[in-house]
Amino acid sequence: MESGFSEIAAILLRFAHVVAAIMWIGNSLLFTWMELRLIARRSGAPDDDLIGHLDMLHGGGVFHLEKRILRPGAIPVPLYWFKWQSYTTWLTGFSLLCVLFYRDGSTLADATRSDLSGPASAGLSLAGLVIGWIYYDLLWRSPLGKNLWTGAIGTFVGIAAAAEFYGHYFNGRALYLQIGAMMATWMTANVFVHIMGNQHRFMRALESGQPHDPSFGKRAKSRSLHNHHLTFPVLFLMLSAHFPRLHAADLRVPILLVTILTLVAVKALMNARLHFRAWWIILTALVVSATAIVAALIHRPSTSPVNPEITHGRQVFEAMACGSCHMQGVAQIAPSLHGIYGTQQALADGTTVLIDESYLRESILTPQAKIAAGFAPAMPSFQDRLSEEELSALIDYVRSLTPTNP
Ligand code: HEC
Repeated sequence: MESGFSEIAAILLRFAHVVAAIMWIGNSLLFTWMELRLIARRSGAPDDDLIGHLDMLHGGGVFHLEKRILRPGAIPVPLYWFKWQSYTTWLTGFSLLCVLFYRDGSTLADATRSDLSGPASAGLSLAGLVIGWIYYDLLWRSPLGKNLWTGAIGTFVGIAAAAEFYGHYFNGRALYLQIGAMMATWMTANVFVHIMGNQHRFMRALESGQPHDPSFGKRAKSRSLHNHHLTFPVLFLMLSAHFPRLHAADLRVPILLVTILTLVAVKALMNARLHFRAWWIILTALVVSATAIVAALIHRPSTSPVNPEITHGRQVFEAMACGSCHMQGVAQIAPSLHGIYGTQQALADGTTVLIDESYLRESILTPQAKIAAGFAPAMPSFQDRLSEEELSALIDYVRSLTPTNP
């Protein structure tokens, strides 16, 4: 009953999360597009309050858009603010983290790398969201943040440190999600603290009769631009559960970092295309070389001291997406594989069987032969999808999984 409820909750949350994120990111992309294309008012033009204008054809008419300075006492009604898309995206995303991962934190951990308990893993993930924001925010408030390049380098160093740190404890899927969730938290906190904060201050000043102070807008706008450049990497990381080739690789941390850098640069080049005619040449060269680097990294084994056979088995496990059904500690779709080796398994036909190598082999190649009690015969056969060497690495990996849940 309880697991059925959380499954439904996860479906609803995921759908709401995706819809809210599309609305938020769509706005971010459209507003930046409008900013970049705004035709500035010619100096000496009669309308002092006009900053720039833009005409857009859509839905059978032309939207004639003007960006203007606001005067006290002439605040338009209604005046629309944009914040709920962002808040809804974060709230649904955080709830999903709780339902899918924090409820049983051992789903975050990687049993071959660490023996962190479930609650400790969830705590570590949560702490990253808070500490990550404090680091990022203080960095951009500090003298380093006054310069775009030092601020950007400091941000990247922080992301790299977090990826390296979480890489010691989390499995690939959780690692990529963790970094994505940390960056997405910056984005929503930027909206809450800086963008809304400055807009409130700006409106209060106007309402009390003070003139339009563009410095509030500037501060809000610089964080808006951060958000804008973070959208592609965050979208990529949020979708990364579908890219097991990347996060299952040994060198998953360098792959993550190359991807983030490339996607920020792609967005920047797309924005530069108005002033920079060769933008598409650079963009193509960038994407091709980043793809080549990632492809090379995917196949390079790391020099970590973990048993290479088990490491290989873990890669096969992740590449075959076994974990999409066999989530550690969550026996909703399929039994957990942690700590099962050497134990007795009850079968649907009322008999029991010892979980040994030959049982594991049979379970993977002909899963319909023996069905674990309490589960549907839902596992696909991997008969023609694994080489003998991959199969034995996979079996070694499953053997190595210890029950990390107390
Ligand atoms: C589509 C979901 C799904 C995928 C993908 C999947 N399994 Fe399974 N697996 C199941 C289900 C359901 C069962 C329980 C029913 C049964 O015994 O066949 C199961 C049972 C098992 C068992 C027996 C466990 C026990 O306690 O008896 C092993 C071992 C196993 N799977 C390994 C794997 C491996 C390794 C992979 C990846 C190569 C994998 N599974 C992919 C759904 C899946």
